[in-house]
This record gives sequence, C-alpha cells and structure tokens, in this order.
Amino acid sequence: MTDQGNGHPADQPMWAELKLPELLFTERVRRLHAEIETEWDPVRQSACQTAAGRALWKHVTKDPLAEVLAGEAYLRSFYEKIRKDCINKASEVSGVILAVRTLWFDTKLEAALNSFNTEEAQIVLLGAGMDTRAYRLTCLRNSNVFEVDFPEVLQKKANLLQAAKEDADEYQNQLMTAKSLTRVAADLRENNWPEKLQKSGFIPEKNTIWILEGILYYQLDSDAVSILKKIAEYSTLTQTVLLADFMNKSSTMLSSSIFHFYSDWPDQLLPSIGFSDVRLSQVGDPDANFGLMHDPSNLFNKLRSLPRSVQTHPDDGTPCCRLYLVQASGSPYIIAP
Ligand SMILES: C[S@@+](CC[C@H](N)C(=O)[O-])C[C@H]1O[C@@H](n2cnc3c(N)ncnc32)[C@H](O)[C@@H]1O
Repeated sequence: MTDQGNGHPADQPMWAELKLPELLFTERVRRLHAEIETEWDPVRQSACQTAAGRALWKHVTKDPLAEVLAGEAYLRSFYEKIRKDCINKASEVSGVILAVRTLWFDTKLEAALNSFNTEEAQIVLLGAGMDTRAYRLTCLRNSNVFEVDFPEVLQKKANLLQAAKEDADEYQNQLMTAKSLTRVAADLRENNWPEKLQKSGFIPEKNTIWILEGILYYQLDSDAVSILKKIAEYSTLTQTVLLADFMNKSSTMLSSSIFHFYSDWPDQLLPSIGFSDVRLSQVGDPDANFGLMHDPSNLFNKLRSLPRSVQTHPDDGTPCCRLYLVQASGSPYIIAP
C-alpha cells in the first residue's frame, strides 16, 4: 500500500483482477455458502459481506481466512463495487471504511491488553460473525476469546473453517493464535446471553475487553442500550475496556429496514450508563486512517471538518453519514457519576 490516495487502484495493482482461492470451488464449501445465501436473513448475511470487504482489503487487514468465510457471491459483488469505484476514480474505494475499522479495533485491542496489569484477559466479541481475530492476532496468546452470535452463524463458520483446514493445504497452517476460543450461541436481544456466556466459561471478575464491531446498529434502541448496560454492570467487577462502533442518525436512515439504533453522541451516552474515559474517533482521524485516506476531498475527511451536529452537508445537501469508533473503560475503582 502506498501512502497516497485512498487506496485507489492507480497505486493498487492488487485489484487488477479477482482471483478466487481454489477452495471456494470445492463442493463442501460451495454447499455451505449456498445454504447461507438461501437460508440466512440480511442481518446474518452481513457477516459474510463484512468478511468479503476484509478479504478484498487483505493487503491491509491481513485476514487470509476472510475469503473462504465470505464466499464467492459476496466477494464478486464487493469486487464489482471496487471495480466501478476504480473506473469512476472515486475519492474513496469501497471497503476502505471496513479496512480502517478493522485496523482501529486491532490496534485498540492490543493497546487495551497492554494496559492491563496481568497478562491474561478475556475478549468477548458480540456479534462476532466471520471475525478471525482469534486466528490472526498474536497479541491474544494469553487471552480467552469468546465469540457470541446466532447459533447458525457460528455453526456455519466452524464448518467453513473445518473445510478449509481439511480441503486445502494452504489453510492447514491457519492455527489459532489466541489461548482459547469458545463460541457462544446466543441472541443478544434475549436477556439470557450473559448467563450463556458465563456457562461457557466467561469469568465476570477477570479483565475483559468487549468488541462490538458492526453490531449495535442492527439492534432496536432498547436492545442496544440493554447490551451496553449489561457490559457496564460487568465493569463494576473488573477492569473493562469497551470498543464499539456507532452509526449516527443519518447513517441508519440509509437503510432503515436493517439499521435501527444510532447515537450522534456516544461520548455522552456511555458515561450516562456507567462508562468512563470515553474516547471517540471518526474515520479519517489521526488514529483512524492508517495512511488510507490522505485525499482531503475524501468523504470522511470532508465530514470531519464539519461540526458533529450537522446532519446535511452544506455543499451538496447529502446526508452526513458518520461512523464513530469509540473506546470506553470501566473499573470497580471508578465511581459512576
Ligand atoms: C455486520 S456483521 C459483523 C460481524 C463482525 N463483528 C465483523 O465485524 O466482521 C453483524 C453480526 O452481528 C450478528 N448479530 C446481529 N444481531 C444479533 C443478535 N441479536 N444476536 C446475536 N448476533 C447478532 C449477525 O449475525 C452478524 O454476524
């Protein structure tokens, strides 16, 4: 990746053509993805779409398993968007936001681990989807990872990873980098997900990092707030770091059938439910660009120059769709306001 542009293909020969790994053409993997395409609703399928973005930006995300988890159909449709952006010389190429988001969570996760006094920690990924951090981040070697998602999502993911390992030599070396990985089948709209998590070995008193990446805005307001409150409750027992992304109102309006919860001011919401030390970044900020968006005409850079309260862009009347990347802490030693 060069330092200029917005990951634009002029500097990015890796997008010249889409080469799918042979594994995607094996019967077992094809069958699993055919089931995903026919049986899953759009919320569950978003797991594969996100993986497709990470796969096509793998020169940045370093996520070699993302291709097989995404599947051919999602890879092709995402690639088509990237190709059109290239032809149109778009100021940002599709997927750049996913690439930045992935790197932001990776970086903050590692920093949070280093901030704990002990080597051991728990990482809980709510709405884990096709996330592969337990396989690709060496900083997790002393951590117990818990992936929470719908049962069918976790089952298909396990089957796809198994197929990759058994059917293709190049995937045999994709070993787990985390100390342990436990998949917890649960619906986050139901109140029993914390109980299921604890029954699976999660220890409330152990230092924990919560990763809520691409999950809150799929929830109804009451469910999203209840999930955050539960995490805040746990944080009264132990050192806790929350890493989460929030859509603002204009972003959820883009697809109101699938997105619900939004917060224009997560830095005010989180302290009101017990979190402290809230730090908010926008895509493009110094800690959230990773050299991928130097062009000042980039949409995200234009948004960052406007006050956050502005919902419609004064230049062209387009909605100001923002994604906030937010870190917050909790600790038994902090007295809630
Ligand atoms: C956009 S994907 C994000 C996946 C992953 N965090 C990532 O960034 O790649 C959203 C995930 O949240 C899961 N999800 C959404 N609502 C959920 C709920 N109520 N309970 C459990 N999982 C849920 C979906 O199944 C899907 O895997």
